[in-house]
Amino acid sequence: MIITILTAYPEIFPGSLGYSVVGNALKQNKWSLEIINLHDFGYDDRKSIDNEPFGGGPGMVIRPDVIEKALLSISKKKGQNRHLIYMTPSGKTLNQSKMAEFTHLDQLIILCGRFEGVDQRAIEVLRFEEISIGDYVLAGGEIASQVLVEGCIRLLPGVLGQPESLLEESFSKEFLEYPQYTRPQVWKDAQNNDREVPKVLLSGHHEKIKQWRSEKSIQKTNLFRPDLLKKEKKERK
Ligand code: ADE
Repeated sequence: MIITILTAYPEIFPGSLGYSVVGNALKQNKWSLEIINLHDFGYDDRKSIDNEPFGGGPGMVIRPDVIEKALLSISKKKGQNRHLIYMTPSGKTLNQSKMAEFTHLDQLIILCGRFEGVDQRAIEVLRFEEISIGDYVLAGGEIASQVLVEGCIRLLPGVLGQPESLLEESFSKEFLEYPQYTRPQVWKDAQNNDREVPKVLLSGHHEKIKQWRSEKSIQKTNLFRPDLLKKEKKERK
């Protein structure tokens, strides 16, 4: 999979994408990352990429001609299945199934917004899908794009050491993942309290452990994300 990022801040990359399982997969060429500096396609001697918004208002808007030129600089192999995304808080909210869909593509081209956004004509004419990573506003789309890319790349075959963990994790089903425990079996905290691991996990009784985890999953979902349970009930009807 080729990930191509269009950004005014190329220095932010690879950032988190250079580490851990996703970074290792990058080094092993299981995916590739291409960073395009929008300023290389600036419209004047100062390599500016933005102008004031028509109609007035604060901030600056990235110009459509700059985005088009940057896009045209990306080579396209015949038959390549590629998709364009624009990271913006006013897009469709990203979720696990959306990320899984993206993993079937050969190339994802991701435009990171800054300032007050991007000229709407560029989004429509060049066919960018507008994607948000949540209901909050960041200073730009770069970190948001890293969230999206990390979430997609770890789903690619051969990227995770233990692909079984994909089946257990939150959002692979309707529920949040159950809590996990490791050594020490009894942890003496700084207040001198003995904090024990739930006994059932030490029992070696696989059926009971499965049952306990499933109960914890439901309890946790009820507490943090009751909306997920409501959605699941509706889908079962
Ligand atoms: N740019 C700024 N905020 C964002 C968000 N929440 N999602 C995607 N891109 C963004």
